Amino acid sequence: MSSQPTRVLFVCLGNICRSPAAEGVFLDLLERENLNDAFEVDSAGTGNWHVGKRADPRMRAAAERRGIDLPSRARQIEPGDLNRFDWIITMDDSNLANVRALDPSGSSHDHIVPLTSHCSRHQASEVPDPYYGGEQGFEHVLDLLEDACSGLLKRLR
Ligand code: 4NP
Repeated sequence: MSSQPTRVLFVCLGNICRSPAAEGVFLDLLERENLNDAFEVDSAGTGNWHVGKRADPRMRAAAERRGIDLPSRARQIEPGDLNRFDWIITMDDSNLANVRALDPSGSSHDHIVPLTSHCSRHQASEVPDPYYGGEQGFEHVLDLLEDACSGLLKRLR
């Protein structure tokens, strides 16, 4: 009998830079460890400006250079996601506050956690928004995501 997959939702503001990249990095790790069937992975944004769009071309190009595909389309998080997913993984303090605000009862708050809490090589409390910066910002985001996603997988597997 196979057990239920662990459901993980990565969340940022626009769902076109950080969270689709986190989704791609985590999926790439699952692929390499042959763990695809053990997880269901998705991403969403707290905002709705980019709904339906593919990830930002700069984020896709940076991920591509590391051999990681980012196929997801942006969507906005909805309150039902807090029950549908076992873990909601946020990129910055604002995402964390906005997602927690979707559940005023607080009953799901233990399952809403910052991705950077799983970093082992980097000391960071947030994955910074790269949208208005240069190319180096996208590389830095991927460095943080690779570190944190491997820590997250160690924790959840
Ligand atoms: P993300 O980056 O939250 O990592 O997807 C952003 C993308 C778009 C905007 C802000 C952040 N925006 O203001 O449109």
